[in-house]
Amino acid sequence: MGKELRFLIGIVVVCGCVLVANADYMLYKDPSKPIGRRIKDLMGRMSLEEKIGQMVQIERQVSSFEVMKKYYIGSVLSGGGSVPKENASAQDWVDMVNDFQKGSLATRLGIPMIYGIDAVHGQNNVYKATIFPHNVGLGATRDPQLVRRIGAATALEVRATGIQYVFAPCIAVCRDPRWGRCYESYSEDPEIVRAMTEIIPGLQGEIPPNSLGVPFVAGKEKVAACAKHYVGDGGTIKGINENNTLIDWHGLLSIHMAGYYNSVIKGVATVMVSYSSLNGVKMHAHQQMITGFLKKTLRFRGFVISDYMGIDKITPTMHGNYTYSILHSINAGIDMVMVPNNYTEFIDGLTFLVKNNFVPMSRIDDAVKRILRVKFVMGLFENPLADYSMANYLGSKEHRELAREAVRKSLVLLKNGANADEPVLPLPKKTSRILVAGTHADNIGNQNGGWTITWQGVPGNNCTVGTTILSAIRNTVDPKTEVAFKENPDVEYVKSNEFSHAIVVVGETTYAEGYGDSLNLTIPEPGPTILTNVCAYVKCVVVLITGRPVVIQPYLPQIDALVAAWLPGTEGQGVADVLFGDFGFSGKLPRTWFKTVDQLPMNVGDPHYDPLFPFGFGLETEGIN
Ligand code: GLC
Repeated sequence: MGKELRFLIGIVVVCGCVLVANADYMLYKDPSKPIGRRIKDLMGRMSLEEKIGQMVQIERQVSSFEVMKKYYIGSVLSGGGSVPKENASAQDWVDMVNDFQKGSLATRLGIPMIYGIDAVHGQNNVYKATIFPHNVGLGATRDPQLVRRIGAATALEVRATGIQYVFAPCIAVCRDPRWGRCYESYSEDPEIVRAMTEIIPGLQGEIPPNSLGVPFVAGKEKVAACAKHYVGDGGTIKGINENNTLIDWHGLLSIHMAGYYNSVIKGVATVMVSYSSLNGVKMHAHQQMITGFLKKTLRFRGFVISDYMGIDKITPTMHGNYTYSILHSINAGIDMVMVPNNYTEFIDGLTFLVKNNFVPMSRIDDAVKRILRVKFVMGLFENPLADYSMANYLGSKEHRELAREAVRKSLVLLKNGANADEPVLPLPKKTSRILVAGTHADNIGNQNGGWTITWQGVPGNNCTVGTTILSAIRNTVDPKTEVAFKENPDVEYVKSNEFSHAIVVVGETTYAEGYGDSLNLTIPEPGPTILTNVCAYVKCVVVLITGRPVVIQPYLPQIDALVAAWLPGTEGQGVADVLFGDFGFSGKLPRTWFKTVDQLPMNVGDPHYDPLFPFGFGLETEGIN
């Protein structure tokens, strides 16, 4: 064979190899390429069906390898309490998430899915996870760097379960404690809520310099966050959940928008829309606020997600006209829809609306571009699958110590003896006999509150692992001190036992969302009866386990010392640490404490401000540490 021919054959073979190699090469899969180019390349390859699939988030109960593959589903979630099995381990969670992910990776373009969960005070759906104080208690700490550390710990415990996305933080500014979600709000003061957005760099990682406002998630030990619920969720009439927020533009921006400015600057990956309405317009259909303000004015570049069946609630009757709901929510600027169950109906509806030009393709492309940006930024294409290597972070000793510190700093001392010269707290560790009483003294479920193991929370001591306040007291006092526990002691028992003092731990039952809406804000019985029976005969310290200020004024004269402990989570040791003086009281009220509910709404700065305990109030004591 001549030299020339061999040369030509060589050229053909080399070009062939290059072509074959190029045929396998897809720019969007190349992490060395700029994210903008990867998005553009991938978008150019996607069909309408694949694009719409990315906009769909389904509940894990209707998901499977096959569903993820067949419908190109972009995201899966666990609703409150939706777990692989009871007391599922980190490994069980990883296996479940990976199975869904493998379905996504098996699609034509192999776009990984993102799994979301309400890790709102730790990885709280998960058995044995560290449960931190709910946001109202964190607001009382006035410590944004503590909250950032909590974000980092939460990210590790979420990743331990193979999950990459959390529906947190809630940056609601709760303006009326009658709202069942007020404990999810850091404060009535927008400046405290703004400061607590420090949890976002804790969850996602510190945004790199000169990239303010760009969604950022720093790899496998961090998670994508979600600022919620946009906007005005905490300002509804009488605190009625999902109701209407009547407010002028200045009030909206200065109060309810406060946390969003900082969240966007800190690179929050997603924003969830509120069920509530703004001056009569459903937020899920509010194009001016979602597209006009959040995306264009604030230049938010992550993705906007609906709330759970949030689009279904646009119509007067739930799911009344679903096509109408799809049309107005997507055109308003919602990018991903938490459907969560009837995903074929959603996909068919949106496909019809696009093909018939009711929803422009440019809107679909904006949504998918945002979703892909978050997935590329967080490295999901490079690391789509989880492993068991992080399982030991779940409920780790270090995290529990962090939660214990948070509990200590969240406690607000409202009364300490008849006067400053006769303080009751701190209590002596060494004494003859003390009584511990109350429905919340020996009840890990009550001290966790809602959004724990299940959506509404689980009273009792079987739901997860932690330290009850009673156990904490027993751990702390001198071994010679007798600790008697009676949840609901009768008067005779109280009178006949010569207790040196009593600790009465009472509060609210567990609740979440609308189930917590309350017009009377009273402590449910037998709390008041226990308090009265004990405090009438023994020097008493009352510890309130509540998601918000409650009616306490009628009992105050009988109470010798009063502590607001909010919803402290699993680490009840933090309460005893402060009651017995190892640490001092430092917490400050994040909310105004009313005298009577007919004063509500009443917030710091209001005219006619006449609280029982004002916003920012909190007595202090010295601790030995
Ligand atoms: C709920 C809540 C929202 C939560 C979502 C997913 O209804 O409004 O805060 O993130 O559904 O559980």
